[in-house]
Amino acid sequence: MKLSSPEFRAMQSLPRKLGQRYFEMPMFQRMGLDLRDKDVLEIGCGSGYGAYLLSSLEPKSYIGLDVMEEQIALAQKQFSQFQFIVQGAEDLSQFANASKDVVIIFGVLHHIPDWRKAIDEIARVLKPGGSLFLEEPRGVDIKIFDAFFRWGHPDTDFGLNALDAHLTQRGLVIQTKQWTPLLTMYHITK
Ligand SMILES: C[S@@+](CC[C@H](N)C(=O)[O-])C[C@H]1O[C@@H](n2cnc3c(N)ncnc32)[C@H](O)[C@@H]1O
Repeated sequence: MKLSSPEFRAMQSLPRKLGQRYFEMPMFQRMGLDLRDKDVLEIGCGSGYGAYLLSSLEPKSYIGLDVMEEQIALAQKQFSQFQFIVQGAEDLSQFANASKDVVIIFGVLHHIPDWRKAIDEIARVLKPGGSLFLEEPRGVDIKIFDAFFRWGHPDTDFGLNALDAHLTQRGLVIQTKQWTPLLTMYHITK
């Protein structure tokens, strides 16, 4: 779903970029994120800062997708060297089965009412042995956050227990799961 105006503004802010650069990327790297010569898909790429950070790891290819036209327009303007498309994660039919080495998500599934469908699609496009790096807030923290900051997250049944159950049901294996105060970070393999 589209972001509310306050969240959209927050996603373009310097604190968001600093967090992604100095906290989330290093954590994913400690969990094994390695993109050299890999085909990479970023889900919910926002305005493209993730593409900029991920490109330093020298992937073979990178595509970022996001459901919001406004985000993709910003991404294309700021980082024209990378490929971005307007697309919802629930339908990855333009990508072949087993075509991606790594899928990466910086805090997106909790915005998708049918987040299970997005997981199903990711499982389909990942190569056997491929990796999903994923970070999401806990369901309870989203509710507390919205009470204070009024970002208006969609009312979904997303939560980490439900996520873990669905990953397992799809045959995906949680290699590492690390809680931090704002986000829980995962390395998952197919
Ligand atoms: C919290 S923002 C995170 C943006 C970026 N990954 C970052 O870390 O700054 C969530 C992003 O998910 C996108 N999004 C929401 N629903 C989506 C969907 N169904 N498919 C793909 N992207 C979606 C939003 O437009 C937004 O850019």
